[in-house]
Amino acid sequence: MILVTGANGQLGRRIVQHLIARSPAPVAGKLAVSVRDPGKAADLAARGVEVRHGNFDHPDTLANAFAGVERLVLVSTDGPREQRIVQQRNAVSAAARAGIQHVYYTSFLDVAADSPSEFAAIHRDTEAALANSGLAHTLLRLPLYAEGLAMIAGLALEGGVLYLPAGKGAASLVSRDDLAQAIAAAALAPRLDKQVYELTGQVAADYASIATKIARASGRSLVYKAVQETDYIAALVKHGLSIWLATALAKLFAAVAEGRMAATGNDFAALVGHPPKSLDCLIHEHFAPRNKA
Ligand SMILES: NC(=O)c1ccc[n+]([C@@H]2O[C@H](COP(=O)([O-])OP(=O)(O)OC[C@H]3O[C@@H](n4cnc5c(N)ncnc54)[C@H](OP(=O)(O)O)[C@@H]3O)[C@@H](O)[C@H]2O)c1
Repeated sequence: MILVTGANGQLGRRIVQHLIARSPAPVAGKLAVSVRDPGKAADLAARGVEVRHGNFDHPDTLANAFAGVERLVLVSTDGPREQRIVQQRNAVSAAARAGIQHVYYTSFLDVAADSPSEFAAIHRDTEAALANSGLAHTLLRLPLYAEGLAMIAGLALEGGVLYLPAGKGAASLVSRDDLAQAIAAAALAPRLDKQVYELTGQVAADYASIATKIARASGRSLVYKAVQETDYIAALVKHGLSIWLATALAKLFAAVAEGRMAATGNDFAALVGHPPKSLDCLIHEHFAPRNKA
């Protein structure tokens, strides 16, 4: 049986949908999810997926959640660094106690010890927990979600300037749905050739060229302006973000400025059989004016 954690989240739900699409029907007895609120996964239960309660803040829930599972797709949690580190360590320990055969962890492209990004520290900690657990595991290192760009650039289009503390750094961007497809493919593969997969696009672009592409696709004016981290944090807090999230995002873009999110390669295609959607395609999807016919 394969179990996906975090299946009420945007990535986890898409992973389950791709597992269903790629598995011979029926999935009953072969596919399960663990979520904090099983009531929100009634649609999955209706499709034959076994819905279990599991909360990484409450390790006592995880023995039942992970019982009888062979392959565990461990979706990283959200929230501040110390909370996430504890949650994800709890999940790894519970997986080891449950005797899970293989864990597929949704890690992050940047896990460097000297990275300014707190996301790097969180994912590095969980990767280390997996290495120390004795569990067989695969690290699926994710790039930035394309949807994150769509959100920030959508707002930036209103003023015509995309302000980010990303310097001249480039990033690889992939949609959640493409990432979910690759994660599902990994979880179903009879065997994998490697332990670490970087699920990047085939090109990385800096934000000046991304802004130019968005302007062209949308028919509106947009330029990129690199800003200082402190100014960016102040602007996000003014817009209502918590200080920790504003700081974490600023540090993430500091890591982008240092080239830490710019990896490209063919790992995605090795799992799925073709590359993810290109940056031009993603920008067209998110920013081209819709036909009103
Ligand atoms: N690569 C990127 O650009 C990027 C951007 C944002 C986030 N991320 C990471 O990718 C993950 C998935 O992204 P997403 O878009 O699906 O985020 P999301 O929709 O906000 O979902 C958050 C996820 O965290 C899980 N979670 C939170 N607290 C938990 C707990 N105590 N125990 C178990 N699970 C818990 C949720 O599980 P339930 O199903 O139980 O609600 C849910 O799956 C995020 O959590 C974050 O670690 C990556």
